[in-house]
Amino acid sequence: MNQIDWKNLPFGYFKTDYNVRTYYKDGKWSELEVTDSEYINMHMAATCLHYGQEAFEGLKAFTGADGRIRIFRMVENAKRMLNSARGLLMAEVPVDLFTEAVLKVVQLNKKYVPPYGEGASLYIRPLLIGTSAEVGVKPAREYMFLVFVGPVGPYFKEGFNPVKMQIIHDYDRAAPLGTGHIKVGGNYAASLRAGQRAHAEGYSTALFLDAREKKYIDEAGPANFFGIKGNTYVTPKSVSILPSITNMSLRTLAEEMGMKVEQRPVPIEELEEFDEVGACGTAAVISPICKIQDRDTGHEYNYCKNGQAGTISSKLYHKLKAIQEGLEPDTHGWITIVD
Ligand SMILES: Cc1ncc(COP(=O)(O)O)c(C=O)c1O
Repeated sequence: MNQIDWKNLPFGYFKTDYNVRTYYKDGKWSELEVTDSEYINMHMAATCLHYGQEAFEGLKAFTGADGRIRIFRMVENAKRMLNSARGLLMAEVPVDLFTEAVLKVVQLNKKYVPPYGEGASLYIRPLLIGTSAEVGVKPAREYMFLVFVGPVGPYFKEGFNPVKMQIIHDYDRAAPLGTGHIKVGGNYAASLRAGQRAHAEGYSTALFLDAREKKYIDEAGPANFFGIKGNTYVTPKSVSILPSITNMSLRTLAEEMGMKVEQRPVPIEELEEFDEVGACGTAAVISPICKIQDRDTGHEYNYCKNGQAGTISSKLYHKLKAIQEGLEPDTHGWITIVD
């Protein structure tokens, strides 16, 4: 293996040595299979290709200051994938099988877990797809669950430096009673046009509004939204956003820091009242937002004095990272050590 330039890794695909797979057939999952192939041999009428029977997850492993590898909250990702499977009538991957697969693939690819202090991590990507052939619109009888990994750098090139986001009114990523609350490919396909345009117009990503009324902030393309107002952490409550595990963790930490936490609809006008705003997710933990432009009205909301993240966002970010890197005790059982 050539020396990996850990400091300059993009957030992208990186070939590693192995991935693990299991197949659902006749009502049961097979033993885990280890392979070095990056390819899947699949029927051309597989339901994942035609009817979107596809769900995925994203979680990370980190090397701690003590040199041990830590995976963050993998049981929560397993539970979210169960919800995604239920939402698309796919075979459910039991939590134990999910965690066994994740542990195995990390162990097999240990040399790709970036060392402590390089600002990089090992991204873990579980994938569940319907594989058997159907032409009528029906769920598959057979499924495949696979997990691959790869070292990644920061999701937004800014890292923890503040980004700009754009509120958009002319696209939705998910319908109110649709699939926004589960992690399925269709939501991301639906977000591509808005995301690409936001990029082209100079923004890191698009901020979607609630699809029904277009009055409330929903979430960013790949992350949840939060605002800090005085001593309160406010984050949108909406049926069409993905329940972020990072957001859940930040709410716990905010409460422990003595803050009030509110999960409720966040009207666009409230953006005027926040001291700090940010996006949160596995990819970056927190991406502080320095500017939000409303694409329809042209109105701009500005945060971040001197281009710096706010003090509370910084505190939350460093606290969560410290737990992930073993610098602070894991008092909630969020960490699984890989030996
Ligand atoms: C649409 C969307 N919202 C929010 C998140 C953040 O969720 P998490 O913190 O579990 O990574 C993600 C990333 O998984 C996402 O794709």
